[in-house]
Amino acid sequence: MNSTELAKLASSARLLAYAPYSKFKVGAALLAEDGKTYTGCNVENASYGMSICAERVAVVKAVSEGQQSLKAIALSVSGSGSPCGACRQVLYEFNPSMLVYLADETGHIHHETTLNMLLPHAFGPENLD
Ligand code: THU
Repeated sequence: MNSTELAKLASSARLLAYAPYSKFKVGAALLAEDGKTYTGCNVENASYGMSICAERVAVVKAVSEGQQSLKAIALSVSGSGSPCGACRQVLYEFNPSMLVYLADETGHIHHETTLNMLLPHAFGPENLD
């Protein structure tokens, strides 16, 4: 699975987003070290604060299926976007060096970075040792 394929998965996941309030659909696709993939979309709620981002849906799906070795994530939004601060923190937990591909709604990647770049001087598991 290469970055282009991962971004296409994120683009497909975006179509499943439940975003009647913001109308802003987000799709995510996580690539694990063993090659398996886990997708997510944002799921909003009438009680707005109960909404969850696409990235965290993907992480929760992966971890709840026994997968904690996460290599890369692709994000698909209309135009351009980047993981919110809360999602950066949740992703950091599982791999500070995670590759991050930012793509538009078609799955075209317009930016590649890493979690370390997006969340410098982060608080992580090692801080609790
Ligand atoms: N959203 C995500 O799914 N991921 C992000 O990184 C940024 C924001 C969602 C949350 C909400 O459903 C909508 O986008 C507007 O903020």
